[in-house]
Order: sequence, then structure tokens, then C-alpha cells
Amino acid sequence: MTTLDTLAAPPLEPAPTRTPALIAALTAPKGFGDATLRDRRTDAIELLGGIPDAAVLPASELAEATARVLSRPGLPALQYSRTEGISPLREWIAEREGVSVDRIVVTNGGFHGLSLAIQSTLERGDLVAVDNPIFPLFLRGLELADASILPIRVGSDGLDIEHLRDELRAGARPAALYTVPDFHNPSQGTLPAEARRELVDLAEHYGFIVYADNPYRELWFGDAPESVDAFNSSDHVIHVNTFTKTLGPGLRLGWIVVPEPLRPAITALRSRQDSHSSTFVQAVVGELVTAEPTLFDSTLQRARRLYRGRAERLVAALEREAPGSFETVLPGGGLFLWPRLTDDAVDPDRLAADASAEGVEYQRGSFFPSGPGTDSDRHLRLAYGHIPEPQLDEAAARLGRALRRQLD
Ligand SMILES: Cc1ncc(COP(=O)(O)O)c(C=O)c1O
Repeated sequence: MTTLDTLAAPPLEPAPTRTPALIAALTAPKGFGDATLRDRRTDAIELLGGIPDAAVLPASELAEATARVLSRPGLPALQYSRTEGISPLREWIAEREGVSVDRIVVTNGGFHGLSLAIQSTLERGDLVAVDNPIFPLFLRGLELADASILPIRVGSDGLDIEHLRDELRAGARPAALYTVPDFHNPSQGTLPAEARRELVDLAEHYGFIVYADNPYRELWFGDAPESVDAFNSSDHVIHVNTFTKTLGPGLRLGWIVVPEPLRPAITALRSRQDSHSSTFVQAVVGELVTAEPTLFDSTLQRARRLYRGRAERLVAALEREAPGSFETVLPGGGLFLWPRLTDDAVDPDRLAADASAEGVEYQRGSFFPSGPGTDSDRHLRLAYGHIPEPQLDEAAARLGRALRRQLD
């Protein structure tokens, strides 16, 4: 006699999910280091991430642009669009970059632009010269290419071109070089005009691609940074940018300026990933920046004023609260201060722990190096852009107390 029980198939064993070896081997930090994971006081002041202040993001203008975009007949903003991005936005970006519109590919932010650059130009196992100290998320992207790295010193004027030249003369043959040319993350310096030209000359001579990662470029305080013409006129540079620091990271919108010979590879790669960035977000930002031609620049003016005031306030507060303990250079732009501990007796790890106990969090400089040969561990990276001035005063006072725990 058959019963329902005997007819029923045996329960299926769940098969294990498989992780490709490349993914299983990923080791670069997933987050932004232990400072973002530490238990912290509920009243902690967090000088952690280079994020914009909500006060200078154009919220109402974005809302109005969104309403206009959604009132268009046929709702093009909710349809598919081109791999490279939508026309009004690309044209606006191309004009600001001083390049032809064909060379602009709209991305889902700066990190995506870097991923596209890496995946469309590197063979597995290639050597890549990188900033030392480095913005560590780049190393995450590099892991997918299984690349090895050649650290190149970064000083107060950005990438040390002499160090790079020495490595090349000694026989190093990187396929690419990664640097942040303007208001470096973490070390706040900017590459001078002459060094930009030399970098491009070296790239053209030795045949490597420069990934020039430039999210802080627009946030200058006094003089605008050096021109990017040397980058945008070379077939050996992919110039990477983003709206993250100017309109907000949540938009996930950026762009790359692609050299003509690399266009087919980058478009082919992109069309095999996500097809294109959100048509809707592109349409809203495109509407925002084109409908009122001065709006983007007036937004930037407000941001520059705010961040400049905060940078000055933090430098002054550190000098008041911990006189002589930090060597500071007032940033020319961007969102980071990179003070150096002047007293070798101060243990920077203990300082970070004591600062956390006092209620101030920041990134230790030791988190950023890509190799030996820097004094990054003697530095702190203090992100001031999103912190109101009275809290910057308080943060400096707490840091001063943390220092005195070691020195007194
Ligand atoms: C140097 C650098 N590159 C890239 C990025 C990533 O930008 P996005 O948020 O647009 O991906 C950041 C963000 O902090 C950055 O500091």
C-alpha cells in the first residue's frame, strides 16, 4: 500500500553556496578601519569621514529639480538611457572639464569610476604605483585585479615625482599609478603644476596609466588648485571625479574623463555591468546644474566658505588647547587636516584610545600608508567639514586632555 508519505520525495539537502576564490581571498578592510567600529561615547565628536555638511547641500533646489523632471511628458527620467550617461549632464561636465562630450562617462560615484578604470586597464597581477599614504578604499578596488603595489611617497606637495622617477629609472614598470592630486586624502597637499606635467610625461614615456582621483578639487579656500589640462589632454590619464563632496554621497553620481583610445574598453565593460547610472538621478542633477547656470557655483561658494572657516577654527583650537604639540598646515581646500605630533614621546595609538575615552574620534595616520617610508603614524586625520565650529573647539579641548594624559 502506498501512502502519501512513501510517495513524497526525500527532502532535498541544501547545497552549499560557493564563493569564487577571488572573492574568498579578499583581505583589504571592508569598513574604514577600527576607528569606525570602536565602542564610543554617546557624546563622541566624530572627525572621521570626509563628508559634506547638510547645511551646504542644495536640498530645496534638488526637490524643485526633481518635480520638474517628473513633470516631463513621457517621463524620460524613469526610462533606460545610454551607457555613457545622459546628454545634458555629460555636456555640462564636459564643458567644465574642457574636453569633448564623448570623453565623459557618468558613473555611480568616484569609487565606481576607479573600479571601471582598474578593470578596463589592468591585467591580473600587474604592478600599480600608489600614493603612500593612500586613500585605502582604492586598495579594495585593486584587489579584484589581483594587482601588486609600488608605494610612492606623498609629501606636503602631493605625490613625490622624484621618488617615482627613481623607481622607474631603477626598472619598476607599473601598468598604472593612483594619486589624489588636489587636497589629498589623507595628507591635504596639492600637486603643483610643474609636477602634474612631469607625472604625465613619465606616464607617456614609460607607458602607464594615471588614475587621477579628484573628489576634493572644487572645495578650494583661497586660490583654485592647479589646472587639470595636463591630465585631460593626455591619452595616459583617466581623470576620476564625483558629486559626492559637493552635492552629497547618497546620490552615488560621478564621472570619469576617459582618453579617446580607452573609450571602447570602458564602454564595453560598463555595458556588461549595470548598463548605466540611474537615469533619474542623472536627470535630477542635470536639471539642477543646467536650469540655473550659477546654482552649482553658488553652492560651491557657500561650501568653500563654511569649510574654510572650520579648517581655520580647528587649527586655532589645536594650537590653543595643545600648544606646540601639533605641527599643522592650514589646508588650501578639501575636508581634512593632517596634523603631525611633534613630540616623539607621544604614542599615537595610546593617544587615539585616550581621545576616544575623552569623546573624540578620528582616523589614525597609521591607517593610511600603503608601504614603509612615511611618518604617517605620527599624524592624525581630522575631518572637519561636517562639524560645527563650537564642536571643533570642544574636540580640540578633548584631544588636548588626551595628550596630557600621556605627557603630565
Ligand atoms: C580620495 C577619494 N576617492 C574616492 C572617494 C569615493 O567617492 P564616492 O563616494 O563618490 O565613491 C573618496 C570618498 O571619500 C575619496 O576620499
